[in-house]
This record gives sequence, C-alpha cells and structure tokens, in this order.
Amino acid sequence: KFEGLALTPPMGWNSWNTFESNINEQLVLDTAEAMKANGLLDAGYEYIVIDDCWSMRERDADGNLVADPEKFPSGIKALADKLHAMGFKFGIYGDAGKTTCAGYPGSQGHEYQDARTFASWGVDYLKYDWCATGTRDAQEAYTTMRDALYAAGRPVVFSICEWGQNKPWLWAQDVGHLWRMSGDIYDCWDCEQEWSRGVKVILDRFHNLDPARAGYDGLGQFAGPGGWNDLDMLEVGNPGLTLAEARSHFTLWSILCSPLMAGNDMRSVTPEIVEILTNKDIIALNQDPDGVSGWRYRIEPGKYETFVKPLVGGDWAVVVLNTSDETQEVEVEWHRMDRAFSGRYEIRDLWAGKDLGDTDTNLKAKIGSHDVVALRLSKK
Ligand code: DGJ
Repeated sequence: KFEGLALTPPMGWNSWNTFESNINEQLVLDTAEAMKANGLLDAGYEYIVIDDCWSMRERDADGNLVADPEKFPSGIKALADKLHAMGFKFGIYGDAGKTTCAGYPGSQGHEYQDARTFASWGVDYLKYDWCATGTRDAQEAYTTMRDALYAAGRPVVFSICEWGQNKPWLWAQDVGHLWRMSGDIYDCWDCEQEWSRGVKVILDRFHNLDPARAGYDGLGQFAGPGGWNDLDMLEVGNPGLTLAEARSHFTLWSILCSPLMAGNDMRSVTPEIVEILTNKDIIALNQDPDGVSGWRYRIEPGKYETFVKPLVGGDWAVVVLNTSDETQEVEVEWHRMDRAFSGRYEIRDLWAGKDLGDTDTNLKAKIGSHDVVALRLSKK
C-alpha cells in the first residue's frame, strides 16, 4: 500500500449516510462549498467521497467504468479538479465483487483497469465494498486492489469495507489504511437490525469482537498510524440522534481513532452541529500524532462507562458516557484510574472549554442521558 498516508485517521465527508443513491455533481460541489464556509475544511475534513451509485449500470465497450452523465455531466475528472482547486481531496467508491451493493459494476477482474481509471481522474481515496463477492477470499481480493492502486501510481488512501466479517484488524494493516469493523451505522443510539447498527451497538462490538489483550480492551490494539479501525461514517447532524448523542458519538469515534467522515447534509447544517464537528480539542484527541487508540476502562452497568486514551507527551483523554436514560451525577475517583495512569494532572473539560483543577480532587460531573464528559489530563 502507499505508505505515509493516513498517519492520523482520515477526515472528510461521504455521501452515503444521507443521500444514498441521490448523488450528483451539484450536491458534491455545494457540500464542498458549505464545508469550506462552515470551517470544516480548516478543521481537517479534507476528503470528499462519493459512495455507491455514481456510475452507469454497464461498462463501456472497452470495459471501462463510466460515470452516470445525468448525475455527473462534467465527468468525474472535472469534479475532482474542482474539489482539488478548493483545497479538498477526492474519494470514490468501488466494490471487490461482480457488482456494488446497489447493482452497479464491481471491480472483480477489472482491478488494474479500474485503478488506472481512478488515477487518471485524480482519485485520492478509494472506499472498496464487499457485495457480490461470492466465494472470494477477502484478504486476497483487497490485496489485489491494493497492488492495482499501487501500480497505477497515484497515492490513494485505501478504505477496506468488508464489515469486519473476516477480522480485517488481523491482516489489513499491510493492505489498507482503514477497515470497517461492523455492518452499517444508522442514525440511532442503540437500535440493531440485521445490517444496521446504532452508535452504542458499534461501540460495544468494538470492545467485544476480539479477545482483549491484558489491560487493553477492544480493537484499538490492532490500529495505529497508517491503519485504523473504521467504526463507520458519522451520523452527527442526522435526525435520529439527539445533540447529546451526536456529541457522544463524535467524542467516542475520536478517542477510538476512527476516521471522522461526516455523513450529514452540509447544505443545511446547523450551528450546533458545526460546533460539534469542529471542536478542535476533541479533533486533537483523534488526530493525536502518537495514534494510540483508546479503550473502555470501566463499566458501571446501566449507568455509565469510562474510556481512556493515551496522548502525546504523557497526556490522557478520559471520557465518561452516561449510558442511562436519566441525568446522573458521576464521580471520577482518580485513584481508581491507576490501571491506566497515576500521578497528578491538570484537567480540562473539552466540551465546556474550562479548566477544572487537578486530579488531587475527585471530579464530580452532572451528565445528561447519553451525553459525555470529555477531559484532557496534562501532567503538572
Ligand atoms: C455497504 C457499505 O457498508 C455502506 O457504507 C455503503 O457503502 C453501501 N454498501 C453502499 O451500497
């Protein structure tokens, strides 16, 4: 794979969560404009990715993928050029099988040809899905596309999307820059259907899918600079989550080093949602140069959960999530954090933007239902 990319989790926007098949050139350009105007580009959201349904139902006579001329009248290269001129990077979607999930042509048997097409269009990021793959071996299929992208010569962030079915955290570090670890996210807190999963459901899967290494719970142990667990795109700003839930979702994806790919309608984004998506202190947890994923440290069943993440220079992030349906008074007893850290730290509350003294005193916090307190601890 291309080394030196995604040294911190990729940030950007993807069309799927809100628009599914209803994508077109104007929508993408309007999204980019809105992201610039609202400070998202400056905050780090650089990849604009179009998901499934951008192409024609058939390849052309030479076997090339062709963009749907009704949706993308100027063509993909022109779109990529415009986004590049605005300061963004451009991502596209493909599939390792015979067709994409929505029935458009997949890249099976056309990997090198499609990789060359993407390179010629100026693609910087490829999300590569797993529908209609039959009996294909995932590691092999993704490795073939990795090699095809590499041969095409244009550096591309390679996003593996086989939904965690073949434990990609065990093999994907050498193949891609991020790998999904679950079925599709949905804009709900804890719903679970066959393929759609709420924020809390994905959070639990992240911690339960593979045996924990002592003292390090969850899939974070398999990730690091250049290769990240992808907890799926953000539902921040989509109707099924309360503001508190959106804040928690964003905070947790940040400390677990998931890519931060927004999935809302940027053209009508509200100030409250912009405030969440552009919180510099939370983003700094996600983009921390050491790239060590956080983990769940403690569960008080039905009440709250505590998460920790080591940060550059010996700092720590501590996040307390109220998992109950009521507001709670939570006390963080610092001496009980000693399986992660000990000693004296100064505390900053990253959502309130306030300094809260130091760890000589236990912290008392009032946390609304499904909301979080996010703290950065710095050595005194
Ligand atoms: C399944 C993926 O997991 C989704 O994120 C999305 O890309 C759809 N396929 C598109 O069909």
